[in-house]
Amino acid sequence: MKSNPWFDKWAKKAKELGYPARSVFKLIEIQEKFKILKAGDTVLDLGAAPGSWSKYAHQVVGEKGKVIGVDLEEVKVNFPNFFFLKKNIFELSSEEVKALGIEKVDVILSDLAPKTTGNKWVDHIKSVELVEKALEISTELLKEGGHLVAKIFEGPQTPLLRKKLEKMFQKVNLFKPKSSRKESKEIFFIAKNFKRSFL
Ligand SMILES: C[S@@+](CC[C@H](N)C(=O)[O-])C[C@H]1O[C@@H](n2cnc3c(N)ncnc32)[C@H](O)[C@@H]1O
Repeated sequence: MKSNPWFDKWAKKAKELGYPARSVFKLIEIQEKFKILKAGDTVLDLGAAPGSWSKYAHQVVGEKGKVIGVDLEEVKVNFPNFFFLKKNIFELSSEEVKALGIEKVDVILSDLAPKTTGNKWVDHIKSVELVEKALEISTELLKEGGHLVAKIFEGPQTPLLRKKLEKMFQKVNLFKPKSSRKESKEIFFIAKNFKRSFL
């Protein structure tokens, strides 16, 4: 594969810091700006592989916190209070999370990304489906006042999805981290303070 200097720079920096993927810098930026995670939190990380977000989340939530990762692929990280479910999120049931002794979580992170096809519309729709699933999981597992971070490949459905999120959460922002490639359509919903009363 042809090397990309931008990609190489961030990937190298991530490796130096002990993270398996450069995507960690996006979560670091999100955390610095929106203070999503705090010590002691229980975090559900959807699309966790290879594990950078889970590892960073673990560092913020500390030894009293917990991180549950879910992915189709294996993760390359392991640490105390980390649980990993190798699963398709469309087949994930809340009972599997509850079986780990976790009733509800404080934060749901979703860096889920479909396999891109090169067709922007198809990629957008697949990514919308992943966000919709993350929302369904939120209604089952997120605590009142909890937060959700969800990646989307931007497109015509983004405003509709934002409206949906605004019914469920007190505050919703769209954020493009500096460490995300400018040419990439990815952007993140940062949804704070889940309102169980919306259900
Ligand atoms: C951008 S990567 C996540 C990187 C991760 N946040 C990290 O920092 O290491 C997106 C992940 O979403 C996962 N994924 C995509 N669709 C999925 C699905 N239906 N169920 C579970 N995982 C899925 C992919 O396997 C991939 O590992």
